[in-house]
Amino acid sequence: MLDLNKQEYTSLSADIHGRYPYSQENHDVWKDLFDRQVAGLKGKMVDSYFDGISALGLISDQVPQVVDINTRLQRLTGAGVEGVPAIIPPTRFFTLLSERKFPVATFLRRREDIDYIEEPDLFHEVFGHCPLLTDRAYCDFIEAFGKRALTLGKGYSWHMFRLFWFTIEFGMIHTKDGPRGFGAGIASSPAEVENALSGRAEIRDFDLMEVLRTPYRIDIVQPIYFAIDSFETLTRSLDNDLAAMIDAAKLEGDLPPLFDPAP
Ligand SMILES: [Fe+2]
Repeated sequence: MLDLNKQEYTSLSADIHGRYPYSQENHDVWKDLFDRQVAGLKGKMVDSYFDGISALGLISDQVPQVVDINTRLQRLTGAGVEGVPAIIPPTRFFTLLSERKFPVATFLRRREDIDYIEEPDLFHEVFGHCPLLTDRAYCDFIEAFGKRALTLGKGYSWHMFRLFWFTIEFGMIHTKDGPRGFGAGIASSPAEVENALSGRAEIRDFDLMEVLRTPYRIDIVQPIYFAIDSFETLTRSLDNDLAAMIDAAKLEGDLPPLFDPAP
């Protein structure tokens, strides 16, 4: 239900140097989120994710600035980030990805929303998405995905978002130590990372057709995750005739959901 007393989040404006004004409360919330999540992710995310945290110089003591992350990413992988309002149109979103740039909402959640916020905030964007942008193979997927989504056009966007959901947001990857998370929704949420590796959720091998036909809900921890073999094989999956596959997915319809319908 809509809470009329709840204060809306508004996007922030950067100064002429591209820096956003973060308050002391913002720094405190960032610190608490960062410390809690780093401790909770040990052994649950892919190694390159942790390498990325270090490579980007992310620390708990201060809210990072998009402009600094962008500079580091450009040097490391030719990728980048761009500060945007929370929601941007699909074409703008796909265009940025096709340019190897990740759109980043710049506001940070308030303390009362520290455990869960539906819209993506700076913590989700930076802590969740940015570390893997230091991995060249991961960036290659982001870029190829954006290009394919743009070429396919509007009628195919919905299914491309589904592919995005089960990879960039909630993807897992097989490692020698077992499946590990790489998706930002796993990295940035205590409940999600616990759920993903709890044994309660299903982890299936990535299958593009199955992904395209699997429904999801955004307001619950995921009942199913798909584990890829590598970012290279994930990128190669985009060489399939995606238009034909999405047409077939539409024709065959969604697989039965593993969750209850939304209330
Ligand atoms: Fe995200």
